[in-house]
Amino acid sequence: MENSFQNEEKKIILSGIQPSGILTIGHYTGALRNWAAMQDEFNCYYMVADLHSITVRQTPAVLRKSTLDTAAMFIACGVDPEKSILFIQSHLPEHSQLTWVLNTFTGMGECSRMTQFKDKSANHAENINVGLFTYPVLMASDILLYQANLVPVGEDQRQHLELCRNLAQRFNNNYSETFIVPEPYIVKLGAKIMSLQDPSKKMSKSDSNSNASIFLNDDDTTIKNKIKRAVTDSGSEIKYDESRPGISNLMSLYYIATGKNYQAIEEEFSGAGYGDFKIAVAEAVAELIAPIRDKYFSVRKDEKALKEILTYGAEKASIQARKTLRKVYKKVGFVNF
Ligand code: TRP
Repeated sequence: MENSFQNEEKKIILSGIQPSGILTIGHYTGALRNWAAMQDEFNCYYMVADLHSITVRQTPAVLRKSTLDTAAMFIACGVDPEKSILFIQSHLPEHSQLTWVLNTFTGMGECSRMTQFKDKSANHAENINVGLFTYPVLMASDILLYQANLVPVGEDQRQHLELCRNLAQRFNNNYSETFIVPEPYIVKLGAKIMSLQDPSKKMSKSDSNSNASIFLNDDDTTIKNKIKRAVTDSGSEIKYDESRPGISNLMSLYYIATGKNYQAIEEEFSGAGYGDFKIAVAEAVAELIAPIRDKYFSVRKDEKALKEILTYGAEKASIQARKTLRKVYKKVGFVNF
């Protein structure tokens, strides 16, 4: 095996998600649905970012389980290990190795300016570790190792991607062309899904209130109950309005599940109350999740097969990762016998 992919004409995509809990419907609409849709047009690397996740203290057994859960959920959402390279980040030592080199190209000031670092330091004041500080350098290494052209990320990762581009250019200018300078690929399709309990904040896989999030393995009854209990605003009209984030969020969920736009939804439910609308949203979302959940449980049940897929993915990924790292080591002047 000389190359990671058979068809080298296609542009390269890389993306990852941290294994910190079961993924939510927000991950499906914001990332995974698009990952699946891009597999024919691009050569895609999709990874479970376990190295990133230990910047916040993890329970080892839980991390081990979450890593496999996350990989299984990628497959359940349509990532096809025959088309894309699906792997676990820590299986490739090159991610850590390149991070070390790129750390020496990154200014303290650059990392200090990252808004996510500032937010996370505020939220984890008891454990502001150096790994959290260089988190974006690890992310840059993920991307640059595979010479990715495009990186599908949410708005919250845009600043990290900008740093990645700067590092690539800095390294290239200092030595010679080494890295592809990647572009962000921000998908606008999916509406942003907010917490069902506090629609002013994003739905999260690690929310302490499990009623706030719809997980991709929730059963029908759970989904319906969560939607019925969702916080709504005062007022009673089904109308999209940013000053009424509760009802607007339910409309986004309905849009995602049915493809009907806001205007169509307003027409369909003109004169109806929140109660009726919630029932319709609950039905539609349950229908969307059902096949994902079923596939998830069937993939997750066969751990041996899942591990084989991930072993195969790591082997394929390592072809490109080793190639890039070899180039980098040579350029910086490490002796190679
Ligand atoms: N930091 C990303 C997040 O939390 C996850 C991630 C790690 C990633 N490495 C990446 C995303 C490389 C895109 C490319 O969302």
